[in-house]
Amino acid sequence: MSLISLSPSVLPARPGGSLQRGTYYVQTWGCQMNEEDSEQIALGLESIGFTPATSPREAHLVILNTCSVRKKPEDKAFSFLGELKMIKDARPDLVIGVAGCMAQVRADEIRKRAPHVDFVVGTAQVIRIPALVEEALQTRRFQKRLDLPERKGAIVTDVPQRAVGRQAKLKSFVPIQYGCDKFCTYCIVPATRGRERSRPTEDIVREVRGLVAQGTREITLLGQTVNSYGKGLEEGRVTFAQLLRILSGIPGLQRIRYTSPYPRDFKSDLIEAIRDVEPVMEHCHMPLQAGHDDLLRRMRRVYTVESYATILENLRAAVPDIGLTTDLIVGFPGETDEEFEGTLAAVRRFQFDGAFMFKYSPRPNTPGALMEQVDDKVASARLDELIRVQTEIQIARNEAQVGRTMEVMVEGPSPKNKALLQGYSRDFRMVHFPAREVEPGTLVAIRAVTAHKWGLMGEWE
Ligand code: 5AD
Ligand code: SF4
Repeated sequence: MSLISLSPSVLPARPGGSLQRGTYYVQTWGCQMNEEDSEQIALGLESIGFTPATSPREAHLVILNTCSVRKKPEDKAFSFLGELKMIKDARPDLVIGVAGCMAQVRADEIRKRAPHVDFVVGTAQVIRIPALVEEALQTRRFQKRLDLPERKGAIVTDVPQRAVGRQAKLKSFVPIQYGCDKFCTYCIVPATRGRERSRPTEDIVREVRGLVAQGTREITLLGQTVNSYGKGLEEGRVTFAQLLRILSGIPGLQRIRYTSPYPRDFKSDLIEAIRDVEPVMEHCHMPLQAGHDDLLRRMRRVYTVESYATILENLRAAVPDIGLTTDLIVGFPGETDEEFEGTLAAVRRFQFDGAFMFKYSPRPNTPGALMEQVDDKVASARLDELIRVQTEIQIARNEAQVGRTMEVMVEGPSPKNKALLQGYSRDFRMVHFPAREVEPGTLVAIRAVTAHKWGLMGEWE
């Protein structure tokens, strides 16, 4: 079979008909918010008659949902566009759309480097994709839709209406807030996602009820700084802690997670909610980014190592078994040996149960890109060192769990070994254990037997 399969052309909509229009493929890079957007894109395309394709080679329509947080995912998107060029040369009917963060901030460059793209659509315009596809099928003219709510504290009508999936899912992501008003100097997100805006509480409650009715047992609330949820809501401020309490009243919802909170806004009402509200999991992903106050100041993170330490102390005092994970960046402009040592010291001091660790990647039009850069080799060596230190800590933290009995929500067989089931504990440790006949979603008691970097191997209690 040739690399490029020739498929029938995409059919324009027939008024009133439920026509099979052709197939679509969505390629996603980046964060959970993007995954969530991709699901919305898929639902939108299915609503106009498209069905999923198993690979871009067979699809009539390919959407790239891109990420700009670091350079690597941008390079991947451009190389994917290169592959699509070959397919489109053989099959000119192929429709290609670029969505997501890179579309938002690099639309002109995409147009220039990949003239075979039919449309570019920004992060706040996902809902328009079906219309853009129709337009592309009719006119074949390049289109661009990039409007973003501009104003700080944007009005709530700026948040997109969401379609709820028809597929039952045990675990679902639920965006509660879009955009970010923090402007950390390394970060492109305020440019790609616009100003912070919260979804109305009743929309969130309605969506979660619908998801639970379809089989969801665990939700993860998504936002760039989830704990500032509610700012600017017309109906009057509902705080993040209040939202957790409201959602906990939905019958059938077993677990609530959230990502990511911003340290400064982590107040006592939230700590009390994590302690007291049953379905809220004993896990918190709290990005530290760096462990030296000068670095934090240059990053424009408005907290200090000590104020962060106080939050963790309060959290651990209120919820002793809480799992704590974080994000860390090394090689931020001007990072000295002493500052990097500060990050290592903070990691040793705070004893995180897991961490996403990144080498700084300069992003266009962010203040960090204009500062004096750290030598790449130095940054890479620091990243290796940080990963080494954190991995040791992580293994030791998992080892300390051995013998403990945990509540695990069964998700299904381990993809690597069908004789095992897998799930997460309430403090967000991955647990594998011998398979038995149990429905996904069941809460089971598992005793930890051996510890690994990735989590725990357990046995039935
Ligand atoms: N370079 C490297 N890492 C970054 N992050 C955000 N911007 C950059 C960048 N320019 C990391 C932060 C953030 C996570 C989602 O990605 O740690 O918390
Ligand atoms: Fe980016 Fe900072 Fe906003 Fe997080 S809080 S999305 S790192 S600007």
